[in-house]
Amino acid sequence: MFIDTHAHIFDEAYNDYKVSDILNNAYKNNVYKIVCIGYDKKSNNQVLELSKEYKNIYATIGIHPSEVKNCSEKDLDEFIEFAYQVKDKIVAIGECGLDFYWDKDNISMQELFFRRQIELAIELNLPIVVHSRESIQKTYDILSCYKGRVRGVMHCYSGSYEMGLRFIELGFMLGIGGVVTFKNAKNIIEVVEKVSIEQLVLETDCPYLTPAPHRGTRNEPAFIPLIAQKIAEIKHISVEEVSRMTSQNAIKLYNIE
Ligand code: NI
Repeated sequence: MFIDTHAHIFDEAYNDYKVSDILNNAYKNNVYKIVCIGYDKKSNNQVLELSKEYKNIYATIGIHPSEVKNCSEKDLDEFIEFAYQVKDKIVAIGECGLDFYWDKDNISMQELFFRRQIELAIELNLPIVVHSRESIQKTYDILSCYKGRVRGVMHCYSGSYEMGLRFIELGFMLGIGGVVTFKNAKNIIEVVEKVSIEQLVLETDCPYLTPAPHRGTRNEPAFIPLIAQKIAEIKHISVEEVSRMTSQNAIKLYNIE
């Protein structure tokens, strides 16, 4: 059994693909649980609806760093209030974090939104789903202010092995997605090779980052075994071992049954 720990199956990329069909295809490929990740007001409501309707779908809510430019501090306050209302229906806060690839002119607002969501997760005793792009050191510096209280997952981890160890020390797991199957994935292959399987979880980040050999098409949870297969090859262990361990890790990370 596999778990997709990071999916956006509410995306408009799936307008011609019913959720029940996405799930059936996932089940056919042994992917039995899917964590649906919200990133703005609309998607936060969508993931809650999905988790209400389907028992194998779990929801997380957050404000993505690339959404910060569309938000005011009042929106942030409202989000936090909303999170308190639905806290029993979510398994994490996020995705949240820092993205200096798309937005470099609102760094202090991104940092404010990130810190408030970390503090929210701590107050609600939930893990956080962290997005970090071209911001790994700053992301680490902020998270380390909350050492011992914060925990969660570095979604689609793309940093160095050394940095990965530091995040693990802080209480984070590393999310491994389709990038590991790409030809130019040297960095992440070293991470997968050296980091203990006990610290890794599988994710698609669908509809994005489709693993080989489907690269260029729409991603979906059913492709998780391709990522597991690649990890098994890199670590010289069986796919069954990858499945068993990463599912165990995901269950522990999100505290799902
Ligand atoms: Ni994502």
